[in-house]
Amino acid sequence: MASPYSSSSSSSSSCSAFRALRIWSSKDYAIAAFVFLILFSLSLLSHLDSRSRSPSRYDSHSHHSDLVPLTLLRNANHTRALCLDGSAPGYHFRTGFGSGSRNWVIHIEGGGWCNSISSCTQRKFTHLGSSNYMDKLIPFSGILSSDSAQNPDFFNWNKVKVRYCDGASFAGHPESEQRGSGLFFRGQVIWEAVMDELLSIGLSKAKQALLSGCSAGGLATLIHCDNFRQVLPKEATVKCLSDAGFFLDEKDISGNSTMRSFYHDVVQLQGLAKSLNKDCIAKMEPSKCLFPSEIVKNIKTPLFLVHPAYDFWQIRNILVPQGSDPHGQWQSCKLNIRNCNANMIDKLDSYRGSLLRTVNEFQQRKEIGMFINSCFIHCQTEMEVTWHSPHSPKINDKTVAESVGDWYFDREAVKRIDCSSFPCNPTCHNMNYT
Ligand SMILES: *[C@@H]1O[C@H](CO)[C@@H](O)[C@H](O)[C@H]1NC(C)=O
Ligand SMILES: *[C@@H]1O[C@H](CO)[C@@H](O)[C@H](O)[C@H]1NC(C)=O
Repeated sequence: MASPYSSSSSSSSSCSAFRALRIWSSKDYAIAAFVFLILFSLSLLSHLDSRSRSPSRYDSHSHHSDLVPLTLLRNANHTRALCLDGSAPGYHFRTGFGSGSRNWVIHIEGGGWCNSISSCTQRKFTHLGSSNYMDKLIPFSGILSSDSAQNPDFFNWNKVKVRYCDGASFAGHPESEQRGSGLFFRGQVIWEAVMDELLSIGLSKAKQALLSGCSAGGLATLIHCDNFRQVLPKEATVKCLSDAGFFLDEKDISGNSTMRSFYHDVVQLQGLAKSLNKDCIAKMEPSKCLFPSEIVKNIKTPLFLVHPAYDFWQIRNILVPQGSDPHGQWQSCKLNIRNCNANMIDKLDSYRGSLLRTVNEFQQRKEIGMFINSCFIHCQTEMEVTWHSPHSPKINDKTVAESVGDWYFDREAVKRIDCSSFPCNPTCHNMNYT
């Protein structure tokens, strides 16, 4: 359950080239650099080429390797904003242009949570706990793409990807650090330091802004949405988008509250209560206040939820976590929804029913938009193939990107709930891990 789930599935081949670079000996270095130059030129070329191609000739194999360098936070020691291992947190920034030069999209990386000293210590040695292990260049795609064909409404905005290295959705507090553990719990401090730095490089003059994030980053978006609104100019249009961040407080198939007890441990370990809504904390057990069903009740800023009804992360970790399926009957279903039998689809549909009942509470709120498709996937804003392309999932003939744009720019009210029961939507991009 505590597995540090990485959401970097959108990494392109260029990223793997970088990982390879690190382990090569110095004698191979020149060759590696040469190969990289070639790869980089090729990706630049394919990028330019795709711009001139008509959308109808688009294919899902063309990756727009829009590589963006990692920037480490200045003065991390001074502000006490540090990753789990004490290294400096970072972000990737690409400047906006044209009519987008005063608009900002800030996207928070996901990657699960750690709920114990040992799982956080494991995380220290990965990119989710230390900037020493982060790729120094990452591709910007989907909502972060600079290609208008792939990202029609936000392509020319300033774009930031905030790296996730605190293990607690940017909500941990140093008071909870344990002497001698060698772990830093600075999520909230990192959030504030990142905001300060972005404000200083132009965000303070924003006209329009969107805070987004996927998975644990989608949860961070919900936690910090109203604060984001607060630190931006009053006259700016500010909204939030949570992608696959709507984690449910549901029992697993064996009747255990696996997710609730997991969140309980995360909240306890890193002292998250201080970052959660005070009214909620006063009324109930703090770990319940980490669930989006509670957080969204108190959010005042306009919000959009992109969420798959068959979120594979939730199926694997909330509905059917390891211990709940001792005979491994769900093993192949968890890898590919097409392998699920009718009985399992029934269970998935009742999970979908719980999701819909929960979000239904927010249907009346005009400023809340939603796109809930009946697909087997996790994050859908970060990849071209799910965000916006001829092969992207649609509801009422609209892609995720078009739906988010319709809501952000008030082109229309967007409450798109997909057909019921798999496989009713043929446009789904369903994951297959077999
Ligand atoms: C913080 O300061 C310590 C001691 O000077 C140093 O070893 C460490 O690398 C610094 N960390 C960062 C993130 O700058
Ligand atoms: C259910 O939870 C209890 C208490 O946390 C645990 O001891 C038990 O192993 C769990 N059962 C399953 C099937 O996961």
